Amino acid sequence: MKDVVLTGDRPTGPLHLGHYFGSLANRVKLQDVHPMYVLIADYQVITDRDLPGRIQRNITELLLDYLAVGLDPAKVTIFRHSAIPELNQLLLPFLSLVSVAELQRNPTVKDEIAHSSQRAVSGLMFTYPVHQAADILFCKGTLVPVGRDQLPHVEMTRLVARRFNERYGEVFPLPEAMMGERPLLRGLDGGKMSKSRGNAITLSATEEETAALIRKARTDPDRLITFDETHRPEVANLLTLAALCLGRSPQDVAEEIGYGGAAALKRLVTEAVNEFLRPIRKRRKEHSEQDVRQILAEGDERARERAVVTLDEVKAAMGF
Ligand code: TRP
Repeated sequence: MKDVVLTGDRPTGPLHLGHYFGSLANRVKLQDVHPMYVLIADYQVITDRDLPGRIQRNITELLLDYLAVGLDPAKVTIFRHSAIPELNQLLLPFLSLVSVAELQRNPTVKDEIAHSSQRAVSGLMFTYPVHQAADILFCKGTLVPVGRDQLPHVEMTRLVARRFNERYGEVFPLPEAMMGERPLLRGLDGGKMSKSRGNAITLSATEEETAALIRKARTDPDRLITFDETHRPEVANLLTLAALCLGRSPQDVAEEIGYGGAAALKRLVTEAVNEFLRPIRKRRKEHSEQDVRQILAEGDERARERAVVTLDEVKAAMGF
């Protein structure tokens, strides 16, 4: 049986190079091989914050990022939670299949609660992994490219699918997570790369913004540049970034710089990143807001047709 790929992002801000090398590059490859759905998980935005924020703006920017990196709406169905009532309706039967104890055990949810700015933990925080099962199962997704933090959610999806099939008959395939061999790219301050920490190079940043961010990046005073992740994590991270952009090894890049010190390192990284992002930035400008609306409307419609069929099947299996 052919795999159906489903993955998605929360529209909380622009995508950065960590997203690119961690997952977007892989999606661009997968779109040529498998039927693929990419979800703009807009309802998931309100799990760890009280308000969705500039949601329309963020959705538009996210879609422009997708188009810029080469996701092709002729091959990929890009859609939103909020446009697919039938997907959301799957949450109800699915919730009946899991216990409260199982919801409370999810390590990613626990971690998000620990980092949340909310004063009270909402019911959605505990139940969104089941909603995510609906994201994956509405199209009978079988392959889910995700980062490590999402593994508990794929596990939850398998649990929901298995229990549904046991109780009501064989409807859902059991999906598999697909983890890339992504090299860990840190932010320019050595911490986790994240837009909110101001340490990430976004795909939509200008050349000048990129240069300014790299200029501020943390390094060390040793003039001989070497790739040593344990003792020189910041320098190693810059080397990794340049290497990814250049398609070379970080050791090789380090050797080229030799005794040039942090200044030469930063010059090289800036050039490599800007060169790499040039075609992406160019493609981003080729699409108007009108295009974005059109692409979303078409994706939403295709996804909704799929969801209607699955919900009908689910209701029939359950005897409604
Ligand atoms: N939880 C994912 C994230 O925060 C986004 C997401 C929502 C997702 N639904 C999904 C990812 C389904 C994969 C499959 O990044």
